Amino acid sequence: MKIIRVKNYKELSRKAANIISAQVILKPDSVLGLATGSTPEGTYAQLIEWYKKGDIDFSQVKTVNLDEYRGLTKDNPQSYNYFMRKHFFDHVNIKQENINLPDGMAIDPDVECFRYDNVIKEIGEFDLQLLGCGHNGHIGFNEPSNFFAKGTHLVDLSDSTIQANKRFFKTIDDVPRQAYSIGIQTIMLARRILIIISGKDKAQAVKNSFFGPVTPKVPASILQLHRDVVIIADEDALSLCKK
Ligand code: F6R
Repeated sequence: MKIIRVKNYKELSRKAANIISAQVILKPDSVLGLATGSTPEGTYAQLIEWYKKGDIDFSQVKTVNLDEYRGLTKDNPQSYNYFMRKHFFDHVNIKQENINLPDGMAIDPDVECFRYDNVIKEIGEFDLQLLGCGHNGHIGFNEPSNFFAKGTHLVDLSDSTIQANKRFFKTIDDVPRQAYSIGIQTIMLARRILIIISGKDKAQAVKNSFFGPVTPKVPASILQLHRDVVIIADEDALSLCKK
């Protein structure tokens, strides 16, 4: 586990974008596992800036997103599909056919989970998995549980996640109660994992995830067992951990 301590969100975003761009420069046909949420917005913005300067080429990159709300169409501004287009895909030269997300409107969840796991199998090893971290230690939408989920699954979102994500919706009743998420096993099979965490409100999650016992009650704690994890966290997020 390598912890990169940064001053603030801006520095976090630049460092994360540096690691992702190095990955793509060294291996232009990289498979990137991608995340949504507030934390990676600055990272994507930085990557777009460097792309526009001609420093990075995404034409051979393939992406697999972690998750998607169930019941939201691709054009719903709260869907993760929409988020990814708005914050990243629409601004770089990634090919449409190389982008993968769960389909929130799939009729049969079992069929959709099976389909997405097959996409993941076909695409091969992820070179780099980008993650954010929930207040309860969730990664993707793998919520605290009694076990670590292996493959793609339909999740009942926890109250804490619904509360945290209501800021993106008009009212709390508009927050979907379910989401598709890739499994912990899929995340752990990535060659390298990059997790980015910012803010005082994440300090307890950082402490529990990286300095406490490995337990499915804190899903991100499993990352302690991965051979190549890079944690970029700002001083606020690390405020409960010793220097
Ligand atoms: C998003 C995802 C979630 C978020 C987490 C943190 O694709 O998988 O695990 O990374 O909820 O979200 P933010 O960054 O909004 O605090």
